[in-house]
Amino acid sequence: MKNIIKDTKTFENATSELLIVGVRKNSNQVKGWEQFISYFGTAIDEWIKSGDIETNSKKLTKIPLNTQNANLKRILFVGLGDQKTLTRQNLRETFGLVGKELKKLKATNVSIWLESFTAAPIDEKEIAFLSAQGIGMGYYTVPHYKTTSNEPDTYIETVEFVTESDINDVVSNFNTGKVYADSVNEARSLVNRPPNLLTAPDLADYAVQLANDYGFEVEILNKAELEELGMGAILAVNQGSSIEPRLITLKYKATKNWEEVIGLVGKGVTYDTGGYSIKPKTGMVGMKGDMGGAAAVLGAMRIVGELKPNQNVVAVIGATDNMISSDAMKPDDIITTYSGKTVENLNSDAEGRLVLADAVTYAKQQGANYLIDVATLTGGVITALGYDKTGALSNNEAFFDAFMEASIETGEFVWGMPLTENDKKRIRKSDVADLINSPGSDGHMIFGGGFVGEFVENTPWIHLDIAGTSDAKSAHDLGPKGGTGVMVRTMATFIERFKDIHQG
Ligand code: BES
Ligand code: MN
Ligand code: ZN
Repeated sequence: MKNIIKDTKTFENATSELLIVGVRKNSNQVKGWEQFISYFGTAIDEWIKSGDIETNSKKLTKIPLNTQNANLKRILFVGLGDQKTLTRQNLRETFGLVGKELKKLKATNVSIWLESFTAAPIDEKEIAFLSAQGIGMGYYTVPHYKTTSNEPDTYIETVEFVTESDINDVVSNFNTGKVYADSVNEARSLVNRPPNLLTAPDLADYAVQLANDYGFEVEILNKAELEELGMGAILAVNQGSSIEPRLITLKYKATKNWEEVIGLVGKGVTYDTGGYSIKPKTGMVGMKGDMGGAAAVLGAMRIVGELKPNQNVVAVIGATDNMISSDAMKPDDIITTYSGKTVENLNSDAEGRLVLADAVTYAKQQGANYLIDVATLTGGVITALGYDKTGALSNNEAFFDAFMEASIETGEFVWGMPLTENDKKRIRKSDVADLINSPGSDGHMIFGGGFVGEFVENTPWIHLDIAGTSDAKSAHDLGPKGGTGVMVRTMATFIERFKDIHQG
């Protein structure tokens, strides 16, 4: 969506080709309905009654128009179902479907009648926010490399609001929603990028670009620098690769003093073959998305850069692929991590936790007082929770509750799993090192995250395992099959709210 936004108070003045109108089971609940009908014709009421215009949730009906207004050519009716069951998430998803429809229609100039979507306490301003999010995410297309397609890119040029509210409020809410959607979509495109075109150095280049765009401090450590520092865990994962690793650090400084810093730590494994603990061929396809955590961190940082919240943030991403060669790490290897802790490598496919170990230690050293790590870490989380729930661990109830509040607001489902003292014992059960990186397959979501926790120590921390949620197996209301950009919105919302929640 481009940024040209206008307002109009009446349908007569609409200058777009298509008007988007919400309809519910009982449409006269909306104050302005009389006026709407008197302009477009009472037949609409009959069509709603007869079912020609559908009011069921998420059903879209478009009708052609022939009115005094020569611009308006169609109305897109959007079924909202029962007023009582209308939620923010429901509206967001419904607007996602609207976004898909607008792309199909190649509609470039659209009007939204805001009031028709309101359902107390969700007011016109919030509808503007949710519609920008939903339409923006629904409109997203996976970039492709086909030589045969000559379809031009379509985009929405202008969005006009039919509204009685203060247009500045409406526009600023819409723009915020658009920032959220655009940032999610950027994260999706990183996940979708093939691994030969998104290596660790490429991911670092993207981060540098982001830093230049938004004025973040940026540091990129290359292989020699990681060796100098003794980052043995990320280096061990990178050992079999001909492509260098990168440790990416971005700092957003909101306050004069570098304090109360939230650290976002992302797994940026640009391809995961499993190494010598090699994945079966069917399990390897899709492992281009093993940098979904890194993408989520970068997407959230883009929102931070755009909206400039009053909250210090440091982002650290460990980027490498996990490959095989005669140089690759082997099961039985002992790895010395950046923290000094040693690890017995029992499974070279448990590489994400190794990368995160060094990244977490570095984030703490860079001043992070709170940590959120996000990673496509384990198949175990898929076994436990399926493909629509992000699994979480934490060492701090208050910090976790605050995060859950943000996730409920964004509609991104997060579920906390237990991490007990008994689990920690298993992680420390090596005869020859401080830790093992893999204890076997029972409860291994907890084990993977718990391993990262060994490097977090006492800092308030949340671990997010997005192995199930980062890459959609099929199209959904808010986007196509492929990268979802999951946790971008929740982490950004959490950062925006953290000061209030924390102090209040
Ligand atoms: N990147 C994978 C986890 C994954 C699996 C992500 C499926 C997305 C979809 C991770 O590095 C991995 O291989 N995990 C192993 C851990 C095991 C060796 C302890 C797993 O889940 O099988
Ligand atoms: Mn792996
Ligand atoms: Zn992995």
